Amino acid sequence: MAKIGVAIIGAGGIALANHLPGLALCPDTKIVAVCDTDPGTLERAKSAAGVSIGSTDWHQIVGREDVNAVIICTPNHLHGPIALAAIAFGKHVLCEKPISMNGAEAQQMWSSADAANLRHMTAFTYRFVPALRYCAHLVQQGAVGTPYHFRVQRFQDWGTRNLGWRQQRQFAATGEIGDMLSHRIDYGHLLIGPLKSLVAQTKLLVPNRDGHPADVEDWVAMLAEFQQGASGVFESSKLATGCGEGKDSPDRCEVNGSEGMVVYQLASPHEILRGTKGAHGGLKVEKVPREFLTWPHSTRDPYQGDPLVTFRYDQNVEFIHAILEGRPCTPSFAEGANVQAVVDAILLSQSQRRWVDVGYPKV
Ligand SMILES: NC(=O)c1ccc[n+]([C@@H]2O[C@H](COP(=O)([O-])OP(=O)(O)OC[C@H]3O[C@@H](n4cnc5c(N)ncnc54)[C@H](O)[C@@H]3O)[C@@H](O)[C@H]2O)c1
Repeated sequence: MAKIGVAIIGAGGIALANHLPGLALCPDTKIVAVCDTDPGTLERAKSAAGVSIGSTDWHQIVGREDVNAVIICTPNHLHGPIALAAIAFGKHVLCEKPISMNGAEAQQMWSSADAANLRHMTAFTYRFVPALRYCAHLVQQGAVGTPYHFRVQRFQDWGTRNLGWRQQRQFAATGEIGDMLSHRIDYGHLLIGPLKSLVAQTKLLVPNRDGHPADVEDWVAMLAEFQQGASGVFESSKLATGCGEGKDSPDRCEVNGSEGMVVYQLASPHEILRGTKGAHGGLKVEKVPREFLTWPHSTRDPYQGDPLVTFRYDQNVEFIHAILEGRPCTPSFAEGANVQAVVDAILLSQSQRRWVDVGYPKV
C-alpha cells in the first residue's frame, strides 16, 4: 500500500517538537510537503523533515495530489480556514488546539469533516499522558465512586515577555483560555463529562509585554457544574511567578469521589496519587500500569527519552492509525468543538458577570 502523504502547515515550535518526531513513529507515513510564511523557518523545517517540497503559501499545499492528510500548526486564526480548505480537497486533518476562533467555526469544521467522511483530530496532547489516561480509566471504571469534585490547576511563570501572536486577540482569539485552559476543559470532559453551567473570570494583568501590546487574558478561573452533578474548579495562569514554565511547571488535576480520589500531575507522567475511602496515611503513589504507558500501536519505548516529552508523539500514531483503520480519531473535532463551546460560555460569563449554561454543538 502507498504511504499516507502528510503536509505540515505552520512549521514553528510545535510542528518540530511534537509532530515531526510523532510522524517518525509512523512507518506508513511520508511527509511530502511543509509550509511556513517565514522563509527561514520553512527551510529549517524542510531540512528537519527531509522534504524538498515547501511553500510560504498554504493554498499551494493543501490541494496537492500527493497529500492525503494535513497537520495544521499555525496560529489559531488560520486553523479554521486551512482545515475547511483541506476538507474540501478531501484531506484528513489533524489540527492544533484550540481548533478555531469560536464555537461556531469549530462546529462547521466538525460537521464538514464528518460529512466528507474524513478523519479529523484535535491535538489535545495531554490526553496521551499515561497518568491522565490511567486516571480517566479508573474514574470510568468507578474506582472513585460517584465523582463529587473535579479540580484542575495550570500554573506557569511567563513573566512579562513578548508572546508574539499569542498575546493578540486577532490571531489567538483568547489568551490563557485557548492556550492552556482548553486542554484542561478537555480533561474535565474526559474525566467527568459535559458541563451544565459555569461562571468565569479572566484578567489581563500585563497589557504590555516587552513593549508590545497584549489584548488577551493572562489568567482565568471558573467554577462549573457538570451535567452529572459534580462541581468543577478550574484555574490557569501565565503569571504564577516562580512556578517555572512548560513541562517543569505545575499541571495538576484531581477527581474526588464517594469512594476515593485520583490525582494526575504532569511532572510525574508514569504515576498517579490515589486515595481510598477509610485508608490511613493519606494519598499513595501508584505506578501507571504498562498498558497505559503507550497508546495502542505506538512502538515507542516509554522508558527511553524524557517521559515528560515522549508521550506527545503518540498523538500522531493515533491520527495515522485512525486513517489506516477508517475509524474516528480520539480526540476528534467533536472534542475540540465541545471545548470551544465552553470557551464561548466563559467569555459570555466574563462579559456579563453571571452564570451561563454551556451550549454544546449538535452535529
Ligand atoms: N498541543 C499542544 O500541546 C500545543 C503546544 C504548543 C502550541 N500548540 C498550538 O500549535 C499552534 C502553533 O503554536 P506554536 O507554538 O508552534 O507557534 P509558533 O509561532 O512557534 O509557530 C507557528 C508557525 O506558523 C507560521 N505561520 C504563520 N502564519 C502562517 C501562514 N499563513 N501559513 C503558514 N504558516 C504560517 C509561523 O511563521 C510560525 O512558524 C497554535 O495553535 C498553538 O496553540 C499546541
